[in-house]
Amino acid sequence: MIKIDGKATSSKIKEEIADEVKQLLSKGKKQPHLAAVLIGEDGASKTYVNAKVKACEQVGFQSTLIKKDDDISEQALLDIIDTLNNDEEIDGFIVQLPLPKHIDEHKVTMAIAPEKDVDGFHPTNLGKMLLNLPSFLPATPYGIVQLLDRYNIETAGKHCVVMGRSHIVGSPMSVLMARNATSANCTVTITHSRTQNLKEITKSADILIVAIGKPEFVSADMVKEGATVIDVGIHRIEDNSKKKGFRLIGDVKYNEVAEKASAITPVPGGVGPMTIASLLMNTLQAVKNKK
Ligand code: GUN
Repeated sequence: MIKIDGKATSSKIKEEIADEVKQLLSKGKKQPHLAAVLIGEDGASKTYVNAKVKACEQVGFQSTLIKKDDDISEQALLDIIDTLNNDEEIDGFIVQLPLPKHIDEHKVTMAIAPEKDVDGFHPTNLGKMLLNLPSFLPATPYGIVQLLDRYNIETAGKHCVVMGRSHIVGSPMSVLMARNATSANCTVTITHSRTQNLKEITKSADILIVAIGKPEFVSADMVKEGATVIDVGIHRIEDNSKKKGFRLIGDVKYNEVAEKASAITPVPGGVGPMTIASLLMNTLQAVKNKK
């Protein structure tokens, strides 16, 4: 069984990006600059955004963090986006999700200029992805494709089952895995909360990608012997034996599924770090696209 090491792969990608940044600077080009907008006090969102800012420092990007209280009006957020869209200094930016209930996430996503949408959530980027045109790919699915590619996991003609149909992960993931590309080319099935005979379907997966947000939902009896299992879930579970008082688990029962899988991502240290690496790759691409 191969443990797919997202932390190490992400570090490798960050080294590659840092080298490219050095080359850009040596040619007198400006530092790539990513901005992140964080609304409110959601603990997980704060952790993710801080990790994104730290990753920028590691690769030599400039970063700007814009923090606002969760009572910000929708219009005030749209104004911030408008400013970032028109700021020549900013190469790309993200608005961390979820947003407070009174703000329309679709309106916010659509307000971001597609050429600065390094999260790849704007309909223009999602549409280009469908058409197999160059675009910013959503960070988590892009990171998963990178992992499969860098671990030489055969995809062509394989059956990939994507569990979950979220706009951020499941839906774009299913499209990417079905594309006619070297790191995709699968036959894809997408499952969701209304799927019947779920176990029958997941058991036929050569590649099982789990993004349902349910702690340890996938057990060994749902997985085919020798499958590749990618766990997108991340949940905090109270654990007083840990210094922080919690530990992290995924959507998959790691220990029992690892015994059956030929390759599997752990939680933490699997998909999570790759999401950040993808965001950095997209930001560097945004800089290159400007030329
Ligand atoms: N919330 C959870 N994942 C993401 C992501 O990839 N980007 C943004 N902006 N928000 C998120």
